[in-house]
Amino acid sequence: MKFLLGALFTVFVAIVGMFAVVSSGIVNVGADQEHSPMMYSFLETARNRSIANASKDIIVPDLEQVDMISTGGADYKDMCAGCHLSPGVESTDFSASLYPKPPNFTKTDVIERYQTKAGAQQGFWAIKHGIMASGMPAWGASHDDDRMWAMVAFIRSLPDLNENQYTMLTTRLDDDMLDMSFDGDMNMSDDGSGMQH
Ligand code: HEC
Repeated sequence: MKFLLGALFTVFVAIVGMFAVVSSGIVNVGADQEHSPMMYSFLETARNRSIANASKDIIVPDLEQVDMISTGGADYKDMCAGCHLSPGVESTDFSASLYPKPPNFTKTDVIERYQTKAGAQQGFWAIKHGIMASGMPAWGASHDDDRMWAMVAFIRSLPDLNENQYTMLTTRLDDDMLDMSFDGDMNMSDDGSGMQH
């Protein structure tokens, strides 16, 4: 009985202590302030275990399809490259200032895990739901699953791309550009200049 009372009292003091620390305002929430190594590894374990658990039943489509890789590219450039970088770009305002740092998806060792089934499931989950209080947005709020899988497929091939290949795979062929190239062809055949050479 004495032991139980002692344990309850310790828990009570710990809770009151925690409230006192939190409400005093001394906890620094600035993104330019690093966690202690213990807190960092605690939060990292919580994130990794949470994502692994939540994503384990997700069915992974065939991510080797070429059209999937190419449709993911334009979305990656528009929505992700600012934080997760691209070939030849080592740092951006976002990548330098966020904490925790957005992983650099042009690096082979970062991408390796997404080649496995569990890694693809976890990558997809993180893209769809985001990661709380980290700066990683939940893209599922505005994008369907096919588009997010295409980004997983693209990320998996990103470390193999050089700058030119990246530009080619990420350029969005919108209606204006298609119209322009069509007009160009028409002009060539109109004045017949192509025939002279
Ligand atoms: C505003 C910056 C920002 C943008 C834009 C952004 N992310 Fe992130 N992303 C982050 C940060 C920061 C993390 C790391 C969070 C953490 O470590 O807890 C992250 C984590 C991830 C992860 C999980 C990595 C892991 O180790 O579990 C994936 C996958 C991911 N992002 C994919 C994307 C994709 C795809 C896009 C574009 C659709 C994107 N992100 C856009 C900031 C961003």
